[in-house]
Amino acid sequence: MNQEKLIHVAKEMRDKSYAPFSKYTVGASVKTEDGSIIGGCNVESASYGLTCCAERIALYNTISQGFSKIKAMAVASENGGFPCGACRQVIWELCGDIPILIIDNQNKIKETSSQALLPDAFDKNNLT
Ligand code: THU
Repeated sequence: MNQEKLIHVAKEMRDKSYAPFSKYTVGASVKTEDGSIIGGCNVESASYGLTCCAERIALYNTISQGFSKIKAMAVASENGGFPCGACRQVIWELCGDIPILIIDNQNKIKETSSQALLPDAFDKNNLT
């Protein structure tokens, strides 16, 4: 996988983050089947609970733009935090098993996958 552009966009998206409460800026990017790269950043709410993570915003941006097949994701933050539990569920449901790159502000990259992050996931197969 050519990771460079994916990582670049995830890092760039941190600058767009709206995180006045936590000051913890997160950028995410996804690569679609045709090679398009689409980003998202975390957006916080004074209510706290309405905050949305960068990963989900990147995914919802992607779906909103008409893409359905997602091949990879990158997530950038100051200290290389991994996706929260809610995002793991949404990543699994919208992407299936994809590689996920985690980047910190020293450019250290860790690679994991959506299946490794959410083993034995509950999904649509449980509903049939
Ligand atoms: N955040 C993300 O954007 N992604 C995660 O996977 C973990 C947390 C954001 C939400 C909130 O704006 C800030 O980081 C602190 O929790």
